[in-house]
Amino acid sequence: MSNYDPVEVTPLHADEMARMQADALDAIKAARDLDELKQVRLTHVGDRSPIALANREIGVLPPAARAEAGKRIGGARKAIAEGLAVRQAELEAERDERVLVEETVDVTLPSGRAPHGARHPLTTLQERIADVFVAMGYGVAEGPELEGEWFNFDALNISPDHPARSEHDTFFVESVDSGKVLRTQTSPVQIRTLLSRKPPIYVIAPGKVFRTDELDATHTPVFHQIEGLAIDEGLTMAHLKGTLDRFAEVMFGEGITTRFRPNYFPFTEPSAEMDLKCFVCRGDSAIPGNPPCRTCKSEGWIEWGGCGMVNPRVLIACGVDPGRYSGFAFGMGVERTLMFRHNAEDMRDMVEGDVRFTLPFGMEV
Ligand code: DAH
Repeated sequence: MSNYDPVEVTPLHADEMARMQADALDAIKAARDLDELKQVRLTHVGDRSPIALANREIGVLPPAARAEAGKRIGGARKAIAEGLAVRQAELEAERDERVLVEETVDVTLPSGRAPHGARHPLTTLQERIADVFVAMGYGVAEGPELEGEWFNFDALNISPDHPARSEHDTFFVESVDSGKVLRTQTSPVQIRTLLSRKPPIYVIAPGKVFRTDELDATHTPVFHQIEGLAIDEGLTMAHLKGTLDRFAEVMFGEGITTRFRPNYFPFTEPSAEMDLKCFVCRGDSAIPGNPPCRTCKSEGWIEWGGCGMVNPRVLIACGVDPGRYSGFAFGMGVERTLMFRHNAEDMRDMVEGDVRFTLPFGMEV
């Protein structure tokens, strides 16, 4: 080594050093992204780069030449490091810019979420009605929609030749003599309750009923009723009237006027129809000379539902002693109640499931 001529250490020549520096700076400039720049860094200043190798050669130079060579390498390294830093900053800025554009989230775009479902206004109304009675101490009872004829008719004092039996336009699901019908009313729940519980009985039974009606503005073949039954010692028609008046008040507001109109139902005696004074014309349209009213057809009153004192024959059919117990029953149409409460004019809206009808009732779930 002692006779080694430092001038022969090619990598340390000024020209060679300048070329290495220029190569590195060119490569830095040419790097198109941060990954490429990383590669350039490895190639030109990494452990095996020409500059690193040249640096190792310094040791073989005579001491007098070392300072000069070291300075040259240091200068080249500094220039390359600066070039790298500048390009690094440029490429980072470019990347940030690109990410901002490519990954932009437009928070004003409508979301793709499906709207939440909500329960039907008929369902929530039935629950609200049940609440009124639960607050008065009633329980909620249920019965099957596919019902025995005996429950739907016979036990309710509607014998096979009773005109009321054919007035109920009954759906038979099997042959007519199968004894099975889609219940035409919720009144069979009265029978099921009387057979399964001991008085005193206070129950409410909301549910679906079925009749072979055509769907139109005031009829639907599947509709809902709310049945009530109270059996106790000493119950009178005054209790019935007070109970239904309270029910009407909660449904239609304080100050609603009601009346009982004599009627006939086989399972109650006496029976009545419960009417509401028309809340549109307040009864005025019934007075001759006044403008007509569409809501009550100028009758001044609206029919709401049937009621009466439970017929002793029903109590006897269910094994309840009519000498000791008496009671009352009532049955209201839930669709009609919804119509009166909310001014809904067409029953078809309640069947079709169009959210334009149901949404204004709220999103109760
Ligand atoms: N079930 C009768 C109907 O569908 C309504 C009814 C009337 C129910 C009088 C009753 C009642 O409980 O007492 O027309």
